[in-house]
Amino acid sequence: MVKKRVAVLISGRGSNMAALIEAAKAADYPAEIALVVSNRAEAAGLAHARERGIATALIDHRKFGEDREAFERALDEMLRAHRIELICLAGFMRVLTPWFVARWSGRLINIHPALLPQFKGLDTHRRAIEAGTRRHGATVHFVVAEIDAGQIIAQESIEVHNDDTEAALAERVLEVEHRLYPRALRAVAEGRAKLGPSPADNA
Ligand code: GRF
Repeated sequence: MVKKRVAVLISGRGSNMAALIEAAKAADYPAEIALVVSNRAEAAGLAHARERGIATALIDHRKFGEDREAFERALDEMLRAHRIELICLAGFMRVLTPWFVARWSGRLINIHPALLPQFKGLDTHRRAIEAGTRRHGATVHFVVAEIDAGQIIAQESIEVHNDDTEAALAERVLEVEHRLYPRALRAVAEGRAKLGPSPADNA
C-alpha cells in the first residue's frame, strides 16, 4: 500500500497530532505522518513528534509581520520539500488566506471542537453550555476560505450533562476528537471522502 504523506500543523499541545501519529502506526493505515509543522517554538507537540522520529519544522509567523502570504509561502515550500499530499490542521491557531486554501483545496482538513455548523470559532464548550445545548461534539471538515464553513467529513456527538463545566465538557469532547480525526483522515486518504463543488460554483 502506498501511504499518503501527511503534514500535521499545530500551535500547542498537539494531542490530536499525537492521536494521528498513533493511528498511523498501523500497517493498514493509508497515511503516514511525514512532517509536523508548528508556528510556535514552545508548542509541546513539537517535542512529542521529535521523540517519535518524525520530521518537524518551526515556521515562526512573527518573523513575517503582517504579511500572511509570506508566512504561507514559507510553509508551502516546506510542505513541498517534504512531498506532502494532505494537511491536517490540529489546533493550528493561524487563519489561512484564500491563496493557501485554494492551493491545497480538497487536501486540507481541520478538526473543530463543536458540531458544525453550530459554534464556529473559539470558546465552543463555554458557548455550548451557555446556550443550554443538549448535544455537543467534534467535526472534521475540509478547509475553505470561510472559517469553519467547509464540507463536513465526519462528526461525533456526546451528551451535555446538566452539571457540566467547560473543562469537563472539553475533556470528553477531546476524547471524541482523538478517535474521530484518525477515522476522518483515513476516509480522505482512501478517497472515500472528497471535497465536492461549493454551492457558489453551481450558481
Ligand atoms: C482541539 O480541541 C481542536 O479541536 C481545536 O484545538 C484543540 C487542539 O488541541 N482546533 P490539541 O493541540 O490537539 O491537543
